[in-house]
Amino acid sequence: MEFRHLGRSGLKVSEISYGNWLTHGSQVEEDAAKQCVQAALDEGITTFDTADVYAGTKAEAVLGRALKGVRRESLEIFTKVYWPTGPGQNDRGLSRKHITESIHASLRRLQTDYVDLYQAHRFDFETPLEETLKTFDDLVRQGKVLYVGVSEWTAEQISQALKIADEMGFDRIVSSQPQYSMLWRVIEAEVVPLSEKEGIGQIVWSPIAQGVLTGKYVPGQQPPAGSRATDTNGGANMISRFMNDDVLTRVQELKPIAADLGLTMAQLAIAWVLQNPNVSSAIVGATRPEQVSDNVKAAGVKLDDEVLRRIDEALGDIVERDPAKTVSPRNR
Ligand SMILES: NC(=O)c1ccc[n+]([C@@H]2O[C@H](COP(=O)([O-])OP(=O)(O)OC[C@H]3O[C@@H](n4cnc5c(N)ncnc54)[C@H](OP(=O)(O)O)[C@@H]3O)[C@@H](O)[C@H]2O)c1
Repeated sequence: MEFRHLGRSGLKVSEISYGNWLTHGSQVEEDAAKQCVQAALDEGITTFDTADVYAGTKAEAVLGRALKGVRRESLEIFTKVYWPTGPGQNDRGLSRKHITESIHASLRRLQTDYVDLYQAHRFDFETPLEETLKTFDDLVRQGKVLYVGVSEWTAEQISQALKIADEMGFDRIVSSQPQYSMLWRVIEAEVVPLSEKEGIGQIVWSPIAQGVLTGKYVPGQQPPAGSRATDTNGGANMISRFMNDDVLTRVQELKPIAADLGLTMAQLAIAWVLQNPNVSSAIVGATRPEQVSDNVKAAGVKLDDEVLRRIDEALGDIVERDPAKTVSPRNR
């Protein structure tokens, strides 16, 4: 495993981290979840990403049990707050009340005294940014949160937050967690340039486009049994944006490029996001331990300009680049 700094902070994270969205507490049974976490640890992954909302709060509890007994100082545990965790008006968003209640619940479920990174899972248009940033800053001072970050915020929203933090002396955002893959490059135009200037690192999600970039979904054929595209708990719905013949046909054209390099397609996809120096870590998901072992081999792989050119040529105009695709709900 290779390690990178999280933005300009002193924290180091594994280039590949493990996340449990749609899997723990949902698509996979607890035994499989534990095996995946063990495989991640065995392969040198130290960084684990979850969120209060995953599997209706169950995912954090599964991760907490799976990591029980592992030396806390050897782990970086990341979680998030914003999406609803209950039926009430205040069980969501980035108000002082919800953030404070949610971090306490997350710490209980994760069985830890602090999280290494606490992330605003979306921008909250209904809460003053000062209120959110002050609350995050308080949690840092209380030692419950070591660093703060955001997820799917626009460059403009990140800029606003940095300005307030600097004026008020609050802890600064060190990370951004956007979707980023060969197919989804919407951060490149605005978020990445701002982040480079401001010392913010990207921890990118769905680097293999939820499994699509492994090439296992073949146009015109049924998805493999047990894959995310067949998961009726939510996975099939989430992956649907990529499940069309145009995308799947183009993705098949990446096969020879990966083969020429002696890489699997998953490794090629993960290595691709890691070529961007502003990326601190690629968060991979897995339903089986073999997938983790496959994916981690992307760490440290260098892709030369000719390979990057061939990838762009193969994918053509199916690549999404519009920065306006980074959106948070108007109402939480
Ligand atoms: N901040 C946000 O808003 C946000 C949103 C989404 C995700 N995330 C974070 O990012 C993490 C990763 O997201 P993701 O799960 O979509 O990432 P991903 O790595 O793009 O996709 C993971 C899925 O692809 C399949 N897969 C993985 N490796 C494979 C391999 N080697 N061969 C074949 N299939 C393979 C598995 O699904 P099957 O076996 O079921 O096909 C696995 O669950 C999440 O857990 C979460 O921590 C954050």
